[in-house]
Amino acid sequence: MSNVHELQFLKEKIQELKDQGVYRKLPVLEGANEAEVILNGKKVINLSSNNYLGFANHPRLKKAAVEVVDKYGVGAGAVRTIIGNMDIHEEMEKLLAEFKREEAVMVFQSGFNCNAGTIQAVTEKGDLIVSDELNHASIIDGARLSRADKTVFKHANMNHLEEVLKENRDKYRNILIITDGVFSMDGDIAPLPDIVNLAEKYNAMTYVDDAHGSGVLGESGRGTIDHFGLHGRVDFTIGTLSKAIGVIGGYVAGSHTMKDWLSHRGRPLLFSTSLPPATVGAIMEAVKLLMSTTEYTDRLWDNAKYFKEKISKLGYNIGNSGTPITPVIIGEEGKTMEFSKKLFDHGVFASGIVFPTVPKGTGRVRCMVTAAHTKEQLDRAVDIFKTVGEEMKLF
Ligand SMILES: Cc1ncc(COP(=O)(O)O)c(C=O)c1O
Repeated sequence: MSNVHELQFLKEKIQELKDQGVYRKLPVLEGANEAEVILNGKKVINLSSNNYLGFANHPRLKKAAVEVVDKYGVGAGAVRTIIGNMDIHEEMEKLLAEFKREEAVMVFQSGFNCNAGTIQAVTEKGDLIVSDELNHASIIDGARLSRADKTVFKHANMNHLEEVLKENRDKYRNILIITDGVFSMDGDIAPLPDIVNLAEKYNAMTYVDDAHGSGVLGESGRGTIDHFGLHGRVDFTIGTLSKAIGVIGGYVAGSHTMKDWLSHRGRPLLFSTSLPPATVGAIMEAVKLLMSTTEYTDRLWDNAKYFKEKISKLGYNIGNSGTPITPVIIGEEGKTMEFSKKLFDHGVFASGIVFPTVPKGTGRVRCMVTAAHTKEQLDRAVDIFKTVGEEMKLF
């Protein structure tokens, strides 16, 4: 019998990954997350970060972080329910609630654990969670932690959602409909007005994970709810502070009652130390910046439209994205990874995404255009897409 501490069982699984051609090392970024970076020792145009507005290395955010560190130190020192709830955490939540045009906001340490903590806290045995089949992994994990029953509806399919609601409404106490606001692999926007109407018709609650809509859609990045004018009609709106906001953290926006309850039962708040002061200072600066100007979101959309138009003119299939997320769909898995590698060799980093993250045969490189890209960088990237497409005879 092998010694279990040699982790032979894991070595075998790692070998399986290698046999399937999906084993990889983590790429190493030298320096800050910028539009052009040194990745694995090579200078490349970065088309793969969620740093939509270029805030991750913004001088004003860095300055704010340093100033807060001087006064509050580098760590919060405890969970929020004990002594880790600083006045700046409270201030940040008030500011976010104002930005999101909601009654209250509760901040968690990441978008991931916001979903993990909130879904289980607001549902229980006797409830039903109804989730879009393409929802993010953190929603799936959050739902798994809940004692409620779970079911999925076909992606953005309102007929199917209504069928599920009709069939189940009388069998459960509360029903929670969960959807991403923007789906991260295709960039499509959820049909939120229809979802909210169905929720109201069947007396169900709504939960929108707007990780890729916050800072992108709506007035100066207020998100998908603002984009559709649905304020006050969605019960729980999740946002991240790690993507457009450029720092780290997640939050749920909604009612005072929601916040009151999460402060007692949101497990990541009760059992994990709160966000460090530097991140809080930088987050507040980012939100203030967004509330004072639409310059960043305007530039993001301008760049996104520019890039999409040029890439589709080359003859690539860029799917049905309604946001800056631009999938360039190649199809077959091996070919997709080869395409991504060739782009990298020529100076563009656009990560390849294949089955099981997306359905078989729909492999793509996912391009994330940001406000920080210059037109010159985007032109160079487009030229490289042209060269590689010709090399691989894609059109
Ligand atoms: C839809 C969605 N929800 C949640 C998350 C997790 O957010 P964070 O990176 O802030 O933990 C992500 C990030 O990948 C996401 O795309």
